[in-house]
Amino acid sequence: MNILILGTAAGGGLPQWNCGCGNCSAARAGHIPSMTQSSLAVEVGEEWVVLNASPDIRAQLAQTPALHPRTHRGSPIRAVVVTNGDVDHIAGLLTLRESTPFTLHATAATHRTLDANPIFGVLNPVFVDRAVQQLEQPFAPVDGLEVTAFAVPGKVPLYQEEAEVDTRLLGEQTVGLRLAAHGRVAYYIPGCAAVPPDLLHRLRDADVLFFDGTVWENDEMQRTGTGHKTGARMGHMAMNGSQGSIAALASLTCRKIFVHINNTNPVLQPGPERDALVAAGWELGFDGMDLTA
Ligand code: MLT
Ligand code: MN
Ligand code: ZN
Repeated sequence: MNILILGTAAGGGLPQWNCGCGNCSAARAGHIPSMTQSSLAVEVGEEWVVLNASPDIRAQLAQTPALHPRTHRGSPIRAVVVTNGDVDHIAGLLTLRESTPFTLHATAATHRTLDANPIFGVLNPVFVDRAVQQLEQPFAPVDGLEVTAFAVPGKVPLYQEEAEVDTRLLGEQTVGLRLAAHGRVAYYIPGCAAVPPDLLHRLRDADVLFFDGTVWENDEMQRTGTGHKTGARMGHMAMNGSQGSIAALASLTCRKIFVHINNTNPVLQPGPERDALVAAGWELGFDGMDLTA
């Protein structure tokens, strides 16, 4: 299977519209690459599946010739699979109106979220089929690609938060995806609050892992003066530290690539944090990164 990173940034992108932090300023000045919001595209047999529909999908598709129409009207995209109901993963669905058929795969919980927002009714059911992803039940969004959704620790979308927020809910709110084709296995987990032992065990068959790289440190937004929330409060584990993803996933020998990177993350600039990430065997994703798994 071919896997393409359409967007590497967490919600907000790089630069984020209202942010003048060091990274956002460096991206505006062209000193570091800008990044669009969180999405992958996967191709098997010349048919494409988009994983998460980011608010930047229009620009992402425009700059990706493989995803351009091949006929007068139409698209090689056969399906969209979403991993949660966060704005950065569903807002792009609105761009995919215009009467071209595809199947939208999401858990029942995420479908309920979409159904509760009447604007998603622009995805005319005559063209857009809504398929319910059952956790742990493989499905084939295109021939030759088997996708399995599984729960990872996370929380409800920001706009559904109530007074008490469980940031490590295990259910249909936040899923990871196992992608299998031609005997190769990739995992896509753009949001994850912790790596429990069963998740680590599950990932043992990975050839490549795309994992939540939102923040380097849990208190990074405070450190950069951009906000008060911790990574944990946002449902994202930090990369660094004894409880971080680099340590938690150190025993995996597959290719490991960080995606869903927040604009505050110091790894976006050359420096000790990026050096530590690379020394630990990880790669930093980038928009347009293309690999065959
Ligand atoms: C997240 O990943 O925490 C969300 O995308 C945040 C948001 O909704 O902006
Ligand atoms: Mn996000
Ligand atoms: Zn910023």
